[in-house]
Amino acid sequence: MTPKTFPPSAELAAQAHVNEAKYNEMYAASIADPEGFWREQGKRVDWIKPFTQVKDVSYDYGKVDINWYADGTLNVSANCIDRHLDKRRHQTAIIWEPDNPGEETLHITYDELYRRTNRMANVLKDLGVGKGDRVVLYMPMIPEAAYAMLACTRIGAIHSIVFAGFSPDALSARVNGSEAKVVITADEAPRGGRNTPLKANADIALQSCDASVKCLVVRRTGGDVAWNDARDVDYNAMAAKASPECAPEEMGAEDPLFILYTSGSTGMPKGVVHTTGGYLVYASLTHETTFDYREGDIYWCTADVGWVTGHSYIVYGPLANGATTLMFEGTPTYPDASRFWQVCEKHKVNQFYTAPTAIRALMGQGNEFVEKCDLSSLRVLGTVGEPINPEAWNWYNEVVGGGRCPIVDTWWQTETGGHLMTPLPGAHATKPGSAMKPFFGIEPVVLEPTTGEEIKGNGVEGVLCIKDSWPGQMRTVWGDHDRFMQTYFADYKGYYFTGDGCRRDEDGDYWITGRVDDVINVSGHRMGTAEVESALVAHPKVAEAAVVGYPHDIKGQGIYCYVTLMSGETPSEELRKELRTWVRSEIGPIASPDLIQWAPGLPKTRSGKIMRRILRKIAENDYGSLGDTSTLAEPAVVDDLIENRMNR
Ligand code: WTA
Repeated sequence: MTPKTFPPSAELAAQAHVNEAKYNEMYAASIADPEGFWREQGKRVDWIKPFTQVKDVSYDYGKVDINWYADGTLNVSANCIDRHLDKRRHQTAIIWEPDNPGEETLHITYDELYRRTNRMANVLKDLGVGKGDRVVLYMPMIPEAAYAMLACTRIGAIHSIVFAGFSPDALSARVNGSEAKVVITADEAPRGGRNTPLKANADIALQSCDASVKCLVVRRTGGDVAWNDARDVDYNAMAAKASPECAPEEMGAEDPLFILYTSGSTGMPKGVVHTTGGYLVYASLTHETTFDYREGDIYWCTADVGWVTGHSYIVYGPLANGATTLMFEGTPTYPDASRFWQVCEKHKVNQFYTAPTAIRALMGQGNEFVEKCDLSSLRVLGTVGEPINPEAWNWYNEVVGGGRCPIVDTWWQTETGGHLMTPLPGAHATKPGSAMKPFFGIEPVVLEPTTGEEIKGNGVEGVLCIKDSWPGQMRTVWGDHDRFMQTYFADYKGYYFTGDGCRRDEDGDYWITGRVDDVINVSGHRMGTAEVESALVAHPKVAEAAVVGYPHDIKGQGIYCYVTLMSGETPSEELRKELRTWVRSEIGPIASPDLIQWAPGLPKTRSGKIMRRILRKIAENDYGSLGDTSTLAEPAVVDDLIENRMNR
């Protein structure tokens, strides 16, 4: 069945940065001569010492080494702020929209951003932070989060943001993993009308960290917090005294810019490392091209800075481009389901970028929440984080976009730094649910999963790998280059392995079919099933646990847990609740189990390996097609699991 396609209007195609002919020409050039293409694109950013080298990359397993613009030097904050001052000193850089619509909106000019960032940079310096030191951010969506990111880059410190929804345990693991000197947090994080006690969480986390770690506390709500004079530092008091001038540090293109912990299929989250030059070139180019960002546009990405989307497409990409970027503290449904659209109307947003899970949730609330708002300013809509189902796509297109706004379904990952596949708004006739086309310089390949042979031609499906490097690619796993090579370069030699499956349709357009490993995607939040399992088995009453994803109407995937209790323990509704609370406190609310099934035994091979394929099928309520179960040690456990399945 050929899906209906949605071409851009002639008007939009004529005005866009990139139309179809230009895409074809630029894409072909980027593949034929990557050196030349990226040499030219490298000029998007201001260099202190211009680069002469462009690309120096080895994908050879065992000696993977990725370098871009390696002999150039630059400073990211100077690119995101200082270089715009001549032309846009009084232009708004950040519009800040608070959780509570009754509170005041802020318009932060580039001039103010400069002074605020420098003050934060000087405060960090006073705390002994210098080039190469790590700083963990555990913050609400407030302008200080952006100041803190930029302040780190100003002095050459490496930030690692921990999403404010993560638990104290997750926070301390990341502080220790990156050996951070300072944690920046706030008293409380208002979201959806409720306050998360960030400082109190940080207090708990820091009990498990080195005594030398300082805690810099931003006042957000003014709520009461415990105070440890030996460790806690009042940001607002320090900033008031700090100088608004701070010279930018000269950084090598390959110096680390940030670490961002993300989930993989095995073990605990790993610290994805992005570096300075290539990342900024890629974030800035993709932001401008994918969203067709033009001078004067108001751009809004609803992500949180705790995720990579917030890094590349709230802060670095837009600010490198001198854009006005909107930062929203709240949630899509507070005070009611029209909040997103009211904010779009209020600020005349031109580009709106959100996650399918939010679209599905809002779609369920009814069209009246959208229709009462004037959305005529919208020009481009975007989605990110998970596959979007055609029903949600169509609703987004018709009800939100009024059929006028191209939807860019951007496929990418924490590891990739920026978009790898997406339609471009003025260039491609979109298809609901398809990520369509590779971005410039990206050569996707579809491989046969077991043999690793490349499947050529159209109308094919397999695992998705990328043939060569691009400037925004992650460089290593913090402190563990072997794990980096093992995770991304071992299974399919000579390629970057994405962990996703994909289909290339008859027209040569790409459709992401979801993860082929044990990573699940819950409301667009990426999670390793292994993390949830290890949280469960840490509970004294749990003997064993296996966790899989299952289709969920709103969240995309839900978390389905099979739990075997210690002998003598009795299953009960209370215990279910207790385990749910336990996982929330071990990892965070985003990891809250949706379904917990009591499993007297788990299906294992004779060598003791859990057959997750079977567990996935049962969780999907698709137990009629379990396939071969003859290698199971105890086939009878499967009957019990089917009998008592939770998703029917
Ligand atoms: C999934 C988020 C389908 C995919 C930027 C990927 C998507 C993982 C899309 C990365 C999309 C992201 N269509 N699936 N447009 N975008 N994904 O690291 O499985 O949080 O591997 O980065 O999300 O999640 P991450």
